[in-house]
Amino acid sequence: MQLIAGNWKMHGRLASVAAIDALVAAGPVPGARLLVCPPATLVARFAEAARGSHVEIGGQDCHAEPEGAFTGDISAPMLADAGATHVILGHSERRAGHGETDAMVRAKAAAAHAAGLIPIICVGETLAERDAGATLEVVGRQLAGSLPAGGPLVVAYEPVWAIGTGRTPTPQQVAEVHAFLAARVPAGTPVLYGGSVKPDNAAWLLALPHVGGALVGGASLTPRDFLAIASAVPAARDAA
Ligand code: PGA
Repeated sequence: MQLIAGNWKMHGRLASVAAIDALVAAGPVPGARLLVCPPATLVARFAEAARGSHVEIGGQDCHAEPEGAFTGDISAPMLADAGATHVILGHSERRAGHGETDAMVRAKAAAAHAAGLIPIICVGETLAERDAGATLEVVGRQLAGSLPAGGPLVVAYEPVWAIGTGRTPTPQQVAEVHAFLAARVPAGTPVLYGGSVKPDNAAWLLALPHVGGALVGGASLTPRDFLAIASAVPAARDAA
């Protein structure tokens, strides 16, 4: 099975539950596990709509503490209570826009585990880092600093320059980083690719060695596109 995860970022209203209804109505996609990560305001509503179905719901961030005087933050137990099964952590938009360090991501991942959530830990290089030949060094450092001790997890490789830009790395570039990451994560950890995954490039991305699924931003907002991406999971991997 490959994990096809949708990162809705700061998009969605209560009426957007129609998207979950559509995914549920479409039924399971062979070889694909579907996860939608909406803004925190929608986690409970989406989880209610997905209950008992093949669709799972996750958060986009959590605090490292379970509760306390942290105005504006959401904790891992709160996400779990709302029906989430996963939480995205260390997305480049949070690392860049909220100053999240590897150590913070690791603490959040430990909090996610304590709450029974599966963390999806994001790593990825900027264009300047790639141009400087530092890609593997950067993702290696982020991985080493962000991974929690023990517990189930998912890792997502998201080159910062490919996010929301319509640009994708070459198959060789994705394969190189995924092979590098696969050798450094606990056995059985899916390594997702993220960054401008669309219905028209999903088939080759998902067929690359060591790619265990996709983290999809923009295209995940449209159920038809999200399902088209999930349907691109190669049949040969169904039994995996
Ligand atoms: P994108 O976003 O698919 O819109 O490029 C991916 C992500 O940031 O997770």
